Amino acid sequence: MVRLIFLGPPGAGKGTQAQLLAKNCSIPHISTGDILRSAVNQQTELGMKAQSYMDQGELVPDALILDMVGDRLGQDDAQPGWILDGFPRNVSQAKFLDDLLEKIEQSYDCVVNLDVPDEIIIARLLERGRKDDNEEVIRHRLSVYREQTSPLIDFYRDRQQLVSVNGNQPVDEVSSALEQIVQP
Ligand code: AP5
Repeated sequence: MVRLIFLGPPGAGKGTQAQLLAKNCSIPHISTGDILRSAVNQQTELGMKAQSYMDQGELVPDALILDMVGDRLGQDDAQPGWILDGFPRNVSQAKFLDDLLEKIEQSYDCVVNLDVPDEIIIARLLERGRKDDNEEVIRHRLSVYREQTSPLIDFYRDRQQLVSVNGNQPVDEVSSALEQIVQP
């Protein structure tokens, strides 16, 4: 049973690695960013509310995110395990996740923190060119990450749940490091 939380700045490779590892482990890769982008594309009520925050690189308000994650983790395919990518994004989301997992009687193996320097991130994301990948929005996402998400590094380190991985190496080398974590 594999249950992991992926933490790290935008462009650190969370999505890339979570997708590969989830496929290897036959468990879902649960990305709040992907769920939100799909809601935006389908112009659902959630998508219409979330879009302007995402375009500006702001976090979407917790009120729109928490039930969405609760519903997703309750689905049948998530019972054998999961990789959470992009959630939690602030301390209140982390506390919500603690309560939710207690309620559904689940726990996780660890929190993987992918480390990558800012200048590498900016180059990667400019090359990718998603709608929110222009330099101004990338820099704003980085500052939102530093202010709101990076406190989770200490939050999980203090609980001895954090494992840091150097994300500034080729994709297959990051994958090997992650495989060692799930197969100790
Ligand atoms: P989200 O989709 O989560 O975006 P993000 O955190 O900014 O992360 P990215 O997808 O940009 O990067 P990643 O770390 O997954 O890297 P990737 O593998 O794609 O969130 C988007 C927005 O949704 C947020 O701004 C917010 O508005 C909202 N949102 C989402 N979750 C939320 C939440 N919980 N609460 C509130 N709001 C929320 O890789 C990036 C690029 O680098 C790719 O081109 C990839 O090919 C390349 N790459 C990957 N690894 C390597 C490598 N090792 N070497 C070279 N290139 C690499």
